[in-house]
Amino acid sequence: MRVLVALKRVIDSNARVRVKPDKSGVDLKSVKMGMNPFCEIAVEEAVKLKEAGTASEVVAVSIGPKAAADSLRTALAMGADRAVHVLEDGEVQPLAVAKLLAAVAARESPGLVLLGKQSIDSDCNQTGQGLAGLLGWPQATFASSVEVSADKQTARVTREVDGGLETLELRLPAVVTADLRLNTPRYATLPNIMKAKKKKLDTLAPGDLGVDVAPRLRTLQVEEPAARKAGAILSSVDELVDRLKNEAKVI
Ligand SMILES: *[C@@H]1O[C@H](CO)[C@@H](O)[C@H](O)[C@H]1NC(C)=O
Repeated sequence: MRVLVALKRVIDSNARVRVKPDKSGVDLKSVKMGMNPFCEIAVEEAVKLKEAGTASEVVAVSIGPKAAADSLRTALAMGADRAVHVLEDGEVQPLAVAKLLAAVAARESPGLVLLGKQSIDSDCNQTGQGLAGLLGWPQATFASSVEVSADKQTARVTREVDGGLETLELRLPAVVTADLRLNTPRYATLPNIMKAKKKKLDTLAPGDLGVDVAPRLRTLQVEEPAARKAGAILSSVDELVDRLKNEAKVI
């Protein structure tokens, strides 16, 4: 069974995000970038399935500018077998990403597609769901555990839902999106980074996959979050109660 794992290159979760002066978006110039953390978890899960003998091949796919290939190399260093880079410099919105991934899935015929539950830059939480919809495949989002049956016909997925866990059984092929607690992604070691350089990485254009990636949504404005007001140190519980009562008026 082949596993296709999708990943996105985003601003590093520790980098300071700056809004462009014209408020048209976020400034990506000279900002540290890396693989979206939820995508790292998806890659780890795919590699674990390979190590367990469940997956015969792990194919990593990413859509984005030239530098997205760096994140694909990271996935290869983590243990993916080969990679597909859909090269696109412009903005690619979730619907277009889902269409591109559906086209790659049609070429690769995976038994399972793994993705992160959302990217930490646009926080859309749409790609996996859209992909499953386009393919007409079962989906399990926000997975905290994935078990593929011995005959590889089904997968049992535990999902983190409000107030508990939900366990689903899906017919394969299916789409699964990874939540935080699915696993702890490994680091790519130097020897594996060197080995990854020799692995196959194909580059395609959206047109090769017959997908029009023109944005369907227009961003009107992006703003910095409001600065937090300074706090106050109070000298007694009485003063705190007084302020809560008479200033904040919450009690
Ligand atoms: C993610 O999207 C689903 C719909 O596909 C929605 O039900 C869910 O509330 C969303 N979760 C978050 C955290 O945005």
